[in-house]
Amino acid sequence: MMKGCKFNILKGIHVSIALLTLCFLVIMLSPWKNNPFLTTLLLAQQRFRQPSSDLLVDAPYNSSISRSRGGHTEEANKSFLKKEATRTVEHHNSSSSTEPVTTFTSEDNDSDEEELSPQNADCNFAKGRWVADSKRPLYSGFGCKQWLSVMWACRLTQRTDFSFEGYRWQPKNCKMKKFSRFSFLRRMRNKTIAFVGDSLGRQQFQSMMCMVSGGEHIIYVEDAAREYGLVKPRGAKRPDGWVYRFTKTNTTILYYWSASLSDLVPINSTDKASDVAMHLDRPPAFLRRYLHRFDVLVLNTGHHWNRGKFEGNRWVMHVKGKPNENKEFEDIRNAKNFTVHSFVRWLDSQLTSHPRLKAFFRTTSPRHYRNGDWNTGGTCNNTIPLTNGSEVLQDGSNDKVVESAVRGTKVKLLDITAISELRDEAHMSGYSIRPTQSVNDCLHWCLPGVPDTWNEILIAQI
Ligand SMILES: *[C@@H]1O[C@H](CO)[C@@H](O)[C@H](O)[C@H]1NC(C)=O
Ligand SMILES: *[C@@H]1O[C@H](CO)[C@@H](O)[C@H](O)[C@H]1NC(C)=O
Ligand SMILES: *[C@@H]1O[C@H](CO)[C@@H](O)[C@H](O)[C@H]1NC(C)=O
Ligand SMILES: *[C@@H]1O[C@H](CO)[C@@H](O)[C@H](O)[C@H]1NC(C)=O
Ligand SMILES: *[C@@H]1O[C@H](CO)[C@@H](O)[C@H](O)[C@H]1NC(C)=O
Ligand SMILES: *[C@@H]1O[C@H](CO)[C@@H](O)[C@H](O)[C@H]1NC(C)=O
Ligand SMILES: *[C@@H]1O[C@H](CO)[C@@H](O)[C@H](O)[C@H]1NC(C)=O
Ligand SMILES: *[C@@H]1O[C@H](CO)[C@@H](O)[C@H](O)[C@H]1NC(C)=O
Ligand SMILES: *[C@@H]1O[C@H](CO)[C@@H](O)[C@H](O)[C@H]1NC(C)=O
Ligand SMILES: *[C@@H]1O[C@H](CO)[C@@H](O)[C@H](O)[C@H]1NC(C)=O
Repeated sequence: MMKGCKFNILKGIHVSIALLTLCFLVIMLSPWKNNPFLTTLLLAQQRFRQPSSDLLVDAPYNSSISRSRGGHTEEANKSFLKKEATRTVEHHNSSSSTEPVTTFTSEDNDSDEEELSPQNADCNFAKGRWVADSKRPLYSGFGCKQWLSVMWACRLTQRTDFSFEGYRWQPKNCKMKKFSRFSFLRRMRNKTIAFVGDSLGRQQFQSMMCMVSGGEHIIYVEDAAREYGLVKPRGAKRPDGWVYRFTKTNTTILYYWSASLSDLVPINSTDKASDVAMHLDRPPAFLRRYLHRFDVLVLNTGHHWNRGKFEGNRWVMHVKGKPNENKEFEDIRNAKNFTVHSFVRWLDSQLTSHPRLKAFFRTTSPRHYRNGDWNTGGTCNNTIPLTNGSEVLQDGSNDKVVESAVRGTKVKLLDITAISELRDEAHMSGYSIRPTQSVNDCLHWCLPGVPDTWNEILIAQI
């Protein structure tokens, strides 16, 4: 209780400071001048609300804020997110006349060159090095307002160093073609790409949306959330995911929130304070229901496997439909290992009957807290890229759990752990949303940034 109260008082102060700073920013940031006031206001809310809770929820270990049940706890206030979703749709419609018809075909003269070369089929993309590239980033952190949460758009923060945007990953022994959104969309005609995981998965999803749209405002995208039951009525909690379709190629890109990749069922559905049965050996209902619609599936889990998250979310482990009795799972790492293995076994068995589906399990995204943890003053304020070297030369993954789970299955490893470990300078760091240096986000990444590379490595293997 005490902790919670302190947090709220602090939050109040932060919010006031945030509002002052915000007024300043609204005046300073000219691109916003053209937008209607409402948009600005919503951006403002997003600016200091969304990230704070998102950071805390994804920060491992003990959290001092209490949360609602059900695993839908990424953000504190969900009704405003509903508005955000509505706004996106309105946005599409309102400016339909401004869409340049040529958008899709300009630059569209590189032939479909991204075919998988035989050499790439069993090539380890995780081996290689970061190289400076003046053609980076792939989209603008100012421009991708349509898809990029302001909380992750470092260009919109007080940050002044952007060298982290200027690198690309060069695999050692495999070809990775320059990303072309046009040829990628053509290749993904009639296809659905699904990201399922925690907020790092959501970062990868937003990165993909920005890459595919080039960070330009485009209107040939429709909101297809309803087809996946992801639109909630007014006043309800925010949707558990987002679904967008690029209509010109009928390419659907979606994200579904599942932090643990286990099925979460409130034990008493009429009681808001009920514990939540976390079925470690049963994949989320959403995946069981919609798997047949996906052509590419990218999974991840990791940063919610700790005592603080379990308590905050009221997760109670269940196995075979009953409360868990296995003492080994008191060490949550064992429960995670069990879940990842069960999940991959299930998915592998499904792949036989879903031959067109390519499934990737993305390895853990590394944190970079130094001199403390997220809640004890840890920082990641180095701004000089690649101070710890630029190369990964090892063969195995640094994420042994995921690596061992997919071994011998048809589920592919999207190994980004060691690659991303070299990028301690590319996190949100102290430059978040709230104009205070007291919270450092050394877990999420600035966008554009490192998750763009995860997507390039993914695309090279699709
Ligand atoms: C979590 O909090 C409890 C009590 O506040 C404390 O005993 C425990 O050491 C904390 N755990 C971690 C990992 O910080
Ligand atoms: C959430 O935000 C909306 C508007 O942004 C506000 O009306 C509502 O009271 C807020 N709810 C909570 C629980 O803070
Ligand atoms: C957007 O436009 C489509 C067709 O032009 C229409 O069906 C839909 O209702 C519009 N959405 C909004 C939010 O205005
Ligand atoms: C595309 O074609 C135009 C004209 O044919 C040419 O000027 C341009 O350099 C080409 N762009 C690329 C990326 O090849
Ligand atoms: C995409 O789907 C449409 C409608 O089912 C079909 O006519 C078209 O040939 C498909 N295109 C490709 C490239 O599969
Ligand atoms: C879009 O692609 C899906 C398959 O992913 C297909 O069922 C549908 O018919 C396509 N729609 C159009 C308009 O081509
Ligand atoms: C579920 O919660 C409701 C409301 O708190 C309560 O009335 C009901 O008895 C509970 N049901 C069970 C089976 O515990
Ligand atoms: C993870 O689970 C698998 C399958 O149950 C088991 O073979 C492996 O030893 C476990 N790994 C760890 C580190 O516990
Ligand atoms: C980085 O953070 C540490 C505290 O962990 C602080 O001592 C140092 O001055 C900071 N460096 C910069 C450049 O801000
Ligand atoms: C650099 O590498 C060393 C040894 O691998 C490691 O202990 C250290 O934490 C790394 N530093 C950063 C900033 O990643």
